[in-house]
Amino acid sequence: MTVNNSKSLDSINRPLRDLRISVTDRCNFRCRYCMPEEIFDKNFQFMPNEKLLSFDEITRLARIFASLGIEKIRLSGGEPLLRKDLPKLIRVLNEIDGISDIALTTNGSLLSHFAKDLKEAGLKRINVSLDSLDNETFRRMNGGRCDVGTVLEGIEAAANIGMEIKVNMVVQKGVNDQDILPMARYFRNTGHVLRFIEFMDVGNSNGWDLRHVVSKREIIDLLNDEMPIEPVPPKYFGEVASRFYYRGTNKEIGIISSVTESFCSSCTRARLSANGHLYTCLFATNGTDLQGLIRSGTRDEELRLFIQEVWGSRFDRYSDERFYATNIPKHQKIEMHYIGG
Ligand code: GTP
Ligand code: 5AD
Ligand code: SF4
Ligand code: SF4
Repeated sequence: MTVNNSKSLDSINRPLRDLRISVTDRCNFRCRYCMPEEIFDKNFQFMPNEKLLSFDEITRLARIFASLGIEKIRLSGGEPLLRKDLPKLIRVLNEIDGISDIALTTNGSLLSHFAKDLKEAGLKRINVSLDSLDNETFRRMNGGRCDVGTVLEGIEAAANIGMEIKVNMVVQKGVNDQDILPMARYFRNTGHVLRFIEFMDVGNSNGWDLRHVVSKREIIDLLNDEMPIEPVPPKYFGEVASRFYYRGTNKEIGIISSVTESFCSSCTRARLSANGHLYTCLFATNGTDLQGLIRSGTRDEELRLFIQEVWGSRFDRYSDERFYATNIPKHQKIEMHYIGG
């Protein structure tokens, strides 16, 4: 198949470049900003196994997406390392023409166990979520499921065998904002890029309120007081994080400011949920059921045209709209653990 990027522009000219694939909707954490325990309890119905896209279905779709311009694949969850045999999937995705980057977003709890298999399968980089270095705060945030030490061991195991690591910290005012500086101090010395993420109103159950957001500006000011930083240009078009160096060094940190400085105008990301629904925005209500099309015998070329049509008619820019219009009506949103962030 030929790659024709010009055919994969959406209605406001954003190219299709990244595919984020959720490989499971399950997670062994219960982060309050994503899957609060009282809602996602023992009786919550996760997807039955037969509804998950099989590895063959994921690979087939990834090939079609590559033919439409996708260069980067990110595997996410829920917690992607809960999906059986994930390294096998990475191995086959790595062979797809046009895919130059495969990455994983994980909570890190199982990383020390899987790091070697992931590396051998060809994975080169991993983004690990870690919201605090203080064990009590971290456990409170993840629903009492994991200690800081376990995640740090996972990061170390992966870094020791040559994986590139980024660390994502979701910052919530009054919950873990006191950990911004300790996290910066710690990761400045490890060489892993730490990114602070503004707390977002994803899903329907995290009780989001603008007053709980620590803004990019506030984070910059806090860092500047102790360890001055200076902005550096993005590494690629549509990079989500704004990048900074600690002044006078090439040690990097980043801030993901989807609330106070949204980046919808360069949003190149399509998202595939674990049951094969295609979403063109993290804040979408409905997706397009590609699994249904595959399982009813639709051929590759038809799928390709169909996906191209979905992307081509896309005009979503939720975070921009949230910022500029305070009165956007509340709508039912897809849950983050189902679409992978
Ligand atoms: P790199 O490829 O390493 O640059 O990673 P990334 O930043 O694209 O991926 P990662 O999974 O680490 O994303 C970090 C966080 O940024 C996500 O968990 C989301 O919170 C947020 N994010 C990523 N993409 C989007 C997006 O399209 N819209 C919004 N609003 N937030 C996003
Ligand atoms: N706001 C910002 N980031 C979030 N994540 C999950 N929920 C939220 C939220 N409400 C992040 C996680 C992880 C990635 C998968 O998504 O911390 O880095
Ligand atoms: Fe936390 Fe990520 Fe699991 Fe959501 S999917 S509960 S953010 S670890
Ligand atoms: Fe893209 Fe939607 Fe995020 Fe905007 S809010 S950057 S359109 S996923």
